[in-house]
Amino acid sequence: MKHILVANAKGGSGKTTLATNLAGYLATQSNHVLLADLDRQQSSTQWLHRRPADAPIIHTSQHKPSHAIEWVVTDSPAGLRDEKLAEAVKEADLVIVPIQPSAFDIGAAADFLEVLMTEKAIRKNKTFVALVGSRVNSRTNAAMGLATFMNESGFPVLAYLRNSQVYTTAAEQGLSIFDMRPSVVAQDIEQWSVLLDWIKDTHVK
Ligand SMILES: Nc1ncnc2c1ncn2[C@@H]1O[C@H](COP(=O)(O)OP(=O)(O)O)[C@@H](O)[C@H]1O
Ligand SMILES: [Mg+2]
Repeated sequence: MKHILVANAKGGSGKTTLATNLAGYLATQSNHVLLADLDRQQSSTQWLHRRPADAPIIHTSQHKPSHAIEWVVTDSPAGLRDEKLAEAVKEADLVIVPIQPSAFDIGAAADFLEVLMTEKAIRKNKTFVALVGSRVNSRTNAAMGLATFMNESGFPVLAYLRNSQVYTTAAEQGLSIFDMRPSVVAQDIEQWSVLLDWIKDTHVK
């Protein structure tokens, strides 16, 4: 089983969008996927409740799954820190940190990455960290600032996801972009390719 934690102490950074789309992708690949929701706002859980019955199944922590789970994707709250962060990181094989292109988001991410680096599991290379640019419109100064920050962070940079209405539409419908008409999401799906290869290939403890 591989366990991916999506985390960033900053609210609105794209955690739920990343977690739900990742779970959705893995489910389209016939994997047994569980989406765990640590956030009291329960956005991922509500998304699962909106999910159409004919969409590829994603399990929740509320019901005992009938199959052995192959992937766990954990969505996490803003402000995750201290013991709760340590516990979540310890359980994860991979931590993906989505970051938006703004000075505030970059500042908050810098702090969060520093805290992450103090976690034992990460220092001992038992849990791997990677970054994803979230709502990035290319050719803006903000996007360039984010790219510079991420490239200099020392962590792998897996994707730049553009700001796109398809994520909003998917969220409303309990779908991932991987469940939508290919012609509508082709450009967005392309932006996920390195990220999807990384999660499949990266070592598990
Ligand atoms: N790539 C994107 N394109 C368009 N809207 C996005 C994108 N990523 C996130 N959003 C929107 O931004 C808001 C915050 O994202 P969300 O995933 O809920 O962040 P978090 O879980 O970190 O608080 C939501 O309304 C979401 O639909
Ligand atoms: Mg959220």
